[in-house]
Amino acid sequence: MKLTWSDVTPRSVYLNRRAVLAGLGAVAAAPALAATGLAGETLNSLEEITNYNNFYEFGTGKEDPARHAGGLTTEPWTVKIDGLVDRPGSYAVSDLAPDNVVEERIYRLRCVEAWSMVIPWLGVPLEDVLSRAGVQPGAKFVAFQTLLRPEEMPGQRVPMLDWPYREGLRLDEAMHPLTLLATGLYGKPLPNQNGAPIRLVVPWKYGFKSIKSVVRITLTDRQPVATWQAMQPSEYGFYANVNPTVDHPRWSQATERRIGAGLFAGREETLMFNGYADQVAGMYAGMDLARDY
Ligand code: MTE
Repeated sequence: MKLTWSDVTPRSVYLNRRAVLAGLGAVAAAPALAATGLAGETLNSLEEITNYNNFYEFGTGKEDPARHAGGLTTEPWTVKIDGLVDRPGSYAVSDLAPDNVVEERIYRLRCVEAWSMVIPWLGVPLEDVLSRAGVQPGAKFVAFQTLLRPEEMPGQRVPMLDWPYREGLRLDEAMHPLTLLATGLYGKPLPNQNGAPIRLVVPWKYGFKSIKSVVRITLTDRQPVATWQAMQPSEYGFYANVNPTVDHPRWSQATERRIGAGLFAGREETLMFNGYADQVAGMYAGMDLARDY
């Protein structure tokens, strides 16, 4: 039997959740769990998911985002969809991911720094959003950008990265059914430190591809340059697929530390494509993944 996080949440807590959960139910999560082989995994707690973060716009420490992201204004918020689309425009988050269509997806998140979590996201497939915008035949890649707002994002006042944070996917990766635009976790709107109000989640890639607080999505015919790739191309590639056989130049990617597992828990083996190989390996057939890391 497949459980959603709400099946193991005390009813009193469950009943306090926002109405967004009303549209979910076990059916929404069961296929995701079955498809991703996640049965048997333990979810990370809300406490862990919201207090151990990477969000350099708010500082480089793991607790900086929890401390400083509260001041980010996330409403109103629009996402500009432009480039090679039939219906370019600025869309409200509630347009892109209406409460009655968001689904729960329980995914592993594997950071390039070799730690991991299991997170119950809420969101909509990016594919649905792009299809509604109307992808034109010439589009081959999708570029993403985070909000640029140094007044509210203290990390952006320091030129440690080339702000705003940027990421990109090949079009087939963007249209893959596992690729999510997340607007919530644990049945509630996304906490600011996790990328409110809307962020990307690409579960088979290192976490840095899952760009937070997205304000722009551009369909293009050229491979976009991503922030970490531009910063240190020998360490962070465009693809960034989780791959235990291709080490980071400064550390092994063969194993990972599950956040919250405890001091005496051993490291876990990292799985090819973070455990999603059955669904995604076909997209990389014939590619040399040591070269296209
Ligand atoms: N997006 C932006 N805009 N800025 C960031 O610093 N960090 C990335 C990614 N998205 C980052 C970002 C990294 S390295 C990881 S591991 C994940 O967000 C962490 O997501 P989480 O804090 O929700 O677990």
